[in-house]
Amino acid sequence: MAKNEKVRGIILAGGLGTRLQPLTEVTNKHLLPVYNQPMIYYPIQTLVSAGIRDILIVTGGNDAGDFLRLLGNGKQFGLKHINYTYQKGEGGIAEALSLAEHFSHGGKVIVILGDNIIEKGIGKSVEAFRKQGKGARVLLKEVEDPERFGVAEIRGDRLVGIEEKPKKPKSRYIVTGIYMYNAQVFDIIRTLKPSGRGELEITDVNNAYIEEGEMQYDLLEGWWSDAGTFDSLLRANQLVAEGAKKR
Ligand code: G1P
Repeated sequence: MAKNEKVRGIILAGGLGTRLQPLTEVTNKHLLPVYNQPMIYYPIQTLVSAGIRDILIVTGGNDAGDFLRLLGNGKQFGLKHINYTYQKGEGGIAEALSLAEHFSHGGKVIVILGDNIIEKGIGKSVEAFRKQGKGARVLLKEVEDPERFGVAEIRGDRLVGIEEKPKKPKSRYIVTGIYMYNAQVFDIIRTLKPSGRGELEITDVNNAYIEEGEMQYDLLEGWWSDAGTFDSLLRANQLVAEGAKKR
């Protein structure tokens, strides 16, 4: 495989974890426990089991050094090394992703939010994305509380738009924090303006691909949870624990 055809993985693990204070007062959200592992282990395992071997972690806050102490060179995940970079402040998911441009080497990237925990793998979608000529691909999931997320508007079987945390969701399908992009993503991010909450929104990036007719999607199999609030963190813990006991 030519060098720039390699698909690289990016885990976004920055942010200030404001919604989880005081749990995040002296540590980064992604280092908190989810059942028997630190949260950051799960997205690493998701990428590794989908065959991704080149991984960059974008972190931030006061505890960035703890990632290095915990993960080192990634040997415990079967990796040769892990790359790290640092996001100052809370500029949003798209800003965090922009810091990974050098790492992409002009190739495709799989981006996963560090608090997204899933039951099954993403291998099939990653394979479909490898074969997809260009554009982007997202993973959708049906949930009970879509208003907390980026909500997909689907017509027929086409994804026609995404609304970030709408008061009146147009569907119960939300965009999970697992995104696949070609190198164009970094050009799109350069055109973004900060949203009402002062951040560069990943939903704006995804809508740019949708407008160009370059966005594909899959429905994620198995359960999915984020872990950025007390309730979702508890739920993630319960789901992982139940899964571990079934095995
Ligand atoms: C972010 C995205 C949202 C997405 C969610 C998935 O929300 O903005 O579109 O559905 O992650 O976890 P946030 O966690 O920043 O509220």
